[in-house]
Amino acid sequence: MNVMRTKPVEQSIQDTDEPGHKLRRSLSALDLTVFGVGVVIGTGIFVLTGEAAGVEAGPAVALSFVVAGIACGLAALCYAEFASTVPVAGSAYTFSYATLGELFAWIIGWDLILELALGAATVASGWSTYFADVAEQAGITLPEFIYGDGHNFVAGAIVLVLTGVISFGIDVSAKINAVIVTIKVAIVLLVIIAGLFFVKASNYSPFIPPAGSEGAKGPKPDPSLLQDLGLSPGGPFGVAGIFTAAALVFFAFIGFDVVATAAEETKNPQRDMPRGILASLAICTTLYVAVSFVVTGMVKYDQISVEAPLAEAFRSVDKPVIATIISIGALAGLTTVMMILMIGQTRVFFAMSRDRLLPPVFAEVSEKTGTPVRTTVTTGIVIAAMATLLPLTELAKLVNIGTLFAFIVVAIGILILRRTRPDLERSFRTPLVPLVPILSVLASFYLMLNLTAQTWIRFFVWMALGLVVYAFYGSRRSRLGTEGPRTETGEPAAGRTS
Ligand code: ALA
Repeated sequence: MNVMRTKPVEQSIQDTDEPGHKLRRSLSALDLTVFGVGVVIGTGIFVLTGEAAGVEAGPAVALSFVVAGIACGLAALCYAEFASTVPVAGSAYTFSYATLGELFAWIIGWDLILELALGAATVASGWSTYFADVAEQAGITLPEFIYGDGHNFVAGAIVLVLTGVISFGIDVSAKINAVIVTIKVAIVLLVIIAGLFFVKASNYSPFIPPAGSEGAKGPKPDPSLLQDLGLSPGGPFGVAGIFTAAALVFFAFIGFDVVATAAEETKNPQRDMPRGILASLAICTTLYVAVSFVVTGMVKYDQISVEAPLAEAFRSVDKPVIATIISIGALAGLTTVMMILMIGQTRVFFAMSRDRLLPPVFAEVSEKTGTPVRTTVTTGIVIAAMATLLPLTELAKLVNIGTLFAFIVVAIGILILRRTRPDLERSFRTPLVPLVPILSVLASFYLMLNLTAQTWIRFFVWMALGLVVYAFYGSRRSRLGTEGPRTETGEPAAGRTS
């Protein structure tokens, strides 16, 4: 059994035209950018900024956003090339299948569950916190039996509602997303512009609090793997704190890569994929650096709220109305993050089932909606169960490590595909190859090292579980394995083993 078999790029593209498995192409570059912004701006900026500034980096959190933004920019340049060269649902999964072979493709598909499904469940849990908060302000206290650790039915319910929405069709999701993104960006701009009036220069001093400083109230961060290994100074804050905070706020950037999962639903993916990916990342990075700079200028870092830093910053300067508007905006904003992460997850499962690494029933597309309804509903139920039952605050960093790993594999894939298939038409080419992909690998790996040892252990356990599933299921049933690569006409290609 050859688990390193690769699926030819042509075959992946050809699969997108199979009757009964065809997704509807309706997205433009603008839709993709709005999609990108819709999924990127969420818990990261609305919630994690507090922890990153309050207990890890202080006002220098703005630099943490720059560091994470640079790592993501390098990855985005690689994603843009592959999404324009292999515009097939499944993103990094499909791409790895064409470059590194089936085993890696499976590993990445399995890994993407951490980014997409676990990510969606994590954001659902953040959503429920804001929901409870807004309800509280309206005088309603949610009963303990529907909202609590390990039985968060509020989070589960919103996931199920969104499952219904995304089953209706990608264009319905795109329309809802466009409305919500407008609200969300308006709120972020409100924070930046209104907040500027309350910035006090004294709050920026010290800009990089000395290592070991006492931070805001809340749980103290665990040391990163680098700190555990003695390769970076210990304690929160200091210069090292900028990097541990960068690994945390990396979560805020997750999603620009999810744009690539919609490649098969894009009218002109060769031209529009790179635009959508790069534009959404550029917009979000600019907003993040500005927001974090303003918020740490409004509140001294050791007073910052680790739960709702943006809203609380306005409460602290006696602007409760703005604070409430921010909370409601965050609630709306987090909705699209979940929605698009879920769309991404269903498209990855769809592509994996089409290749029969997962049961083929999940690759059926509904005639009526043009979406893989069965996969969508099943995925939705699983994510809802995760959101209801799992202790998600502890698992959030797993989402980061999983995504960073996918970035590494994609960057390596760019290098490989340039060598193995120099002939392919690439409407977008990553600049300065091999430098940019190599820097991308190093930057992503460095951020991974800034996560905790516990996160690494959980990551390895998850991946080991994936290998077991592959050994017992996918490796035996893979379409490529059982039928071999096909020719341009769809016939099995006898004797070809590429
Ligand atoms: N980037 C997304 C967020 O911050 C996942 O919620």
